[in-house]
Amino acid sequence: MIPAIDVRALSKRFGSHTVLDHIDLQVGRGEIFALLGPNGAGKTTLVNILTTLVKPDHGSAFVAGHDVTTAPTAVTQRISLTGQAAAVDEILTAEENVVMFARLSGLDRRAARERAGALLSRFGLTDARGRRVGTFSGGMRRRLDLALSFVVHPEVCFLDEPTTGLDTRSRRELWSIIASLADAGTTVFLTTQYLEEADQLADRVAVLHDGRIAALGTPAELKQRVGGGSVELRNADGSVVREISTDGTIASLRHALDDLDRDGRGGEIALARPSLDDVFLALTEKESA
Ligand SMILES: Nc1ncnc2c1ncn2[C@@H]1O[C@H](COP(=O)(O)OP(=O)(O)OP(=O)(O)O)[C@@H](O)[C@H]1O
Ligand SMILES: [Mg+2]
Repeated sequence: MIPAIDVRALSKRFGSHTVLDHIDLQVGRGEIFALLGPNGAGKTTLVNILTTLVKPDHGSAFVAGHDVTTAPTAVTQRISLTGQAAAVDEILTAEENVVMFARLSGLDRRAARERAGALLSRFGLTDARGRRVGTFSGGMRRRLDLALSFVVHPEVCFLDEPTTGLDTRSRRELWSIIASLADAGTTVFLTTQYLEEADQLADRVAVLHDGRIAALGTPAELKQRVGGGSVELRNADGSVVREISTDGTIASLRHALDDLDRDGRGGEIALARPSLDDVFLALTEKESA
């Protein structure tokens, strides 16, 4: 089967700065794929190339079976994009925004209103539907922006940092919406700076570092490469007295605790989970080793 996204030796430079350096990746249909990377890693640049907004310098990219460079219209007809910058109109109400977008997408007036009602409810905006978007909080805007990208049923849905600015509850709600989209067959390509988000949602994760894919695999595979974090013994003032690395299994945690117990020092135990920084350090150290 043709992959939903097929990227080959894709490169992009801005001036002398190589942002993407021969990127290769394939995303299967119905897969949730997370592109993980810190600020400035090139996540938005890759999304912009895949959604035809930016032209690559070298290499090729096919989305939903069409070439983003030579057949951009065929690509844009089959995708949706929720970008980092909200696309909503501040003067209109939430409902008017969704209805307008649905009408532009070809729905008749009645179907557009029905779709708007369903989407506003799904994104927890029913009570705020009559309010002008100019009065919305950042999280509410984000949810409205996301609701717009679900007006049509795209083959491939691009979400550029979909949950940045959302509180924990809204973030979890959104995760379940994204998961249900993929269950229904939509391919989801999302970018994130949150390891936890990639872990919770994605079938596979690519770590973008220095313009290259530093690691690619299932969350379990990546975690295995990074290790399971450590058990820390801390003083009353919070400083770490001793730290023992573990592979995250019960046996290794028990071993670490026994070790600390034998040590006989008092203090408080804390579990330090690998952070995104740890992932990058571990992966890039292995890369250059
Ligand atoms: N149009 C442009 N002209 C010049 N440089 C650009 C342009 N677009 C992006 N860049 C640079 O390319 C690099 C990657 O930017 P990009 O926006 O793709 O990163 P990102 O991973 O999305 O970061 P963030 O997490 O902050 O959104 C940055 O150094 C950025 O300054
Ligand atoms: Mg970005």
